[in-house]
Formats: sequence, C-alpha cells, structure tokens
Amino acid sequence: MTAETIVSADTDAFPDVDLFSDEILLDPYPTFARLRESAAVVHIEANDLWALTRYDGIRDALANPEVFSSNKIAFNDQMNEALRGTTLTTDPPAHGPMRAVLSENLSPRSLRKLKGDIDAKADAMVAELVERGRFDAIDDLARALPLHVVADLIGVTGRPRENILRWGEAAFNVLGPANQRTAENFPVAGELFGWAHHVSASDLTEGSMGRAIFDAADRGEIAHETCGMIIHQYVAAGMDTTIASIGNVIALLAAHPDQYELIRQDPSLLSAAYNEGLRLEPPVNTWGRLVKEDVKIEGTVIPAGSRAAILFGSGNRDERHYEDPDTFRVERNPVDHLSFGYGIHGCAGQGLARLEALAVLTALTRRVRRFSVGASSRVVSNMTRSLDKLPVVELEAA
Ligand code: HEM
Repeated sequence: MTAETIVSADTDAFPDVDLFSDEILLDPYPTFARLRESAAVVHIEANDLWALTRYDGIRDALANPEVFSSNKIAFNDQMNEALRGTTLTTDPPAHGPMRAVLSENLSPRSLRKLKGDIDAKADAMVAELVERGRFDAIDDLARALPLHVVADLIGVTGRPRENILRWGEAAFNVLGPANQRTAENFPVAGELFGWAHHVSASDLTEGSMGRAIFDAADRGEIAHETCGMIIHQYVAAGMDTTIASIGNVIALLAAHPDQYELIRQDPSLLSAAYNEGLRLEPPVNTWGRLVKEDVKIEGTVIPAGSRAAILFGSGNRDERHYEDPDTFRVERNPVDHLSFGYGIHGCAGQGLARLEALAVLTALTRRVRRFSVGASSRVVSNMTRSLDKLPVVELEAA
C-alpha cells in the first residue's frame, strides 16, 4: 500500500451491518442511507468487502474495468470459479468478442421480431385476469410473461420449462456470500447448469433462438462449448431480474394511484415509469467486483485484492444525484439509473426486459382503470429484490 492509504476511522464503523442478512435484504434502504451519508466507500467487516455507496463513485468504478475487474462478480469464490470464462466475469480484451456473440440475438433488430408476440401475449394475459377480477400480480403476470418469453425464445418445452422459474431464482441466490441461502440454492442452480450444458439442438424448438445458437456453432462462427454457456446466461440473467422489475413497478403503481392515473392518461410516460421503478427498486441491489490495484475514492483507499460491492440500490437513491430520491415520480424519467449497470458489462438484455415490462404496462393501463392490492410479501434473496405475492383485490376495468 502507498503512504496515502489512510482508511478513515469511519470506514469500519458498521459492525452491525451484514448486507446479506434477512433484515437488510428485506429493507435495505435505511442502511444504504446510513452508509452513503458516512462515505462514498465503506468497509463492511461482516462481509469482508468495500461497499460503494454513492452514484458518482459507482459509475466511475463501472467505467474502469482495469481497476474494478469482473473476475469476482459473485460474493463467494466457488461461484466465481464456476463462472470463469463467461461474458459476465471476463475483462477486456477477451470480453468484447464474447459479448458480441452473446448480444447478437438481443439486438434491437432481433427484438423487433419479438415485439408483436410479446405485446399480444401480455394483452391476452391481462384480458383474462381482468375477466377473473382477482389475481396475483406476481404469479399471474410478473412471473408468467417472462417465463413464456424466455422459454419460447430458447425453445424449451416439457419438464425443463417447468423448472425455469426455480432455476432462475437459484442462479442469482448462489452469487451471494457463503451463507445458508447460497448453500441451499447450489443444488438447484446446478440443475440449470447441468441442463444448459447438456441440451442439444434437437431438444429445442425449431426456429427458436436456442436453435440459432447451435446453428451458428455448426457454421463454425462460435465454439460448440459456448452454446450451453450462452443458453445458461439467458436463463440465469434474464428471468429473476425481469420478474423483479415488473413486479416492483406494478407494486409502486398500486401504492401511488395518482402516478398510475398519469400513465393511464398519457401512455408516452410508460417507459419513464418503468425507468423510475427500476431506479427506486433495482432488481439487483448489490453486485461484486475485484479491486485489482489500490484505488482512492473520495479520500478512502481500497487496497488491491479487495472485494468491492456495488450498491446499485444506494447509488440510485443518492441525493447528490437525484432530487427527492425516495419519491416515486413517473415523470422523472431517470434514464441514467444504475440498475442495468454501466460501461462494457452494462446489461445485454435490457432491450428484452424493457419490451416485456412495457407490454405489461401497456396492457394494464389500457384494460384497467383502477386497481388495489392486499398485503404483499417479498422473496428473501441474496441478490435480487423482488416480490413473492401481490394480490390484486379490487379492480375496475377500463
Ligand atoms: C430488468 C431486468 C434486468 C436487470 C435489472 C439486469 C441487470 C443487469 C446488470 C446490473 C448487469 C451488469 C453486470 C455487471 O456490470 O457486471 C447485467 C448484465 C447482463 N445482463 Fe442483465 N438485467 C436484466 C435483464 C436481462 C435479460 C432479460 C437478459 C437476457 C436474456 C440479460 C442478460 C444480461 C447479460 C448477458 C449480461 C452480461 C453482459 C456482459 O457482461 O457484458 N439481462 N444485467
């Protein structure tokens, strides 16, 4: 370390904080506010990591892969080892070509072909739910649509399709520290890993994107070993996150009927409402990096070799960047929120997630004038912040 390496007295001032305790996972924001108020970087002893708390520091770190390496995005080394060689955990220069292959099927051109089907499916789902009158906004909408979209996209049918929801949830949970939740989820995440790496082209529906990946390998454009890895990443990265984002924005709109009325009256605000939902309730609250060399952020030095935690959920509520940050305002349109990351690893699937969420919001606002919800419950996950139940108890059709 250099002579400058002065860790302020404040940096170890949070012996009570375990970022992955049930209590903080269920309600992280008061703790995030304390940490953010204290410093841009704080050492969390219980998790042996340095947490980045403020918007500017987070964005700068994500823009600097030479120092903030993706070799450790998970908070346990068994998973970092298992993910070695994936796009997510690879630094430049190898990252670029891998990302190009991975995002080919997620480009705006590819997504345009999917829009009609996704819109129609969401509309049919909402029409049926309005007919029913009472339903669960998570099971029947936030989970149902991404399951349909991702399974069809990859071309999964039969038993594996039934497993996708639990596989997607476990794939995120195992990125946490070596706690009980991580241990319990390893076998389920292993099922997904095993399936994705053994699935063959003939198991997948003809014309699906999954098939297209195998076709590309047959043409010699990518290595055959890459196919399973890509399919694994679509399921692992694309399910739990999208589900969380749709459920969270519906819950926020239910809690703020005036904001729902604004987007119902003016559909041009739908995209802004989704951005605001993503800002206020990021599907991924915390994410990892490995610090490759000593780095100083607002006066605190993080020593080389440390693990860093990027607190998306804190950066998105940084009062230095957003005015009145704890308030849900659909007209704010925070296009610069951090929930999809930033820089070279910025979410490759955000176009798809947005397509799904906007399909749901469009159908909802077109078919439902007003709705109210009963008591909700949360999933306690190491990594994703999502609802488990959100019962719609009253609804007035438009
Ligand atoms: C609302 C939904 C989503 C959220 C909030 C989200 C969030 C994120 C974040 C924060 C990252 C950056 C990770 C990093 O910097 O290390 C990321 C990367 C990624 N996401 Fe998403 N994601 C979502 C949906 C999706 C979907 C639907 C897919 C694909 C089907 C997907 C595929 C990926 C991939 C492949 C990467 C890695 C990109 C790279 O390393 O270059 N994501 N996502």
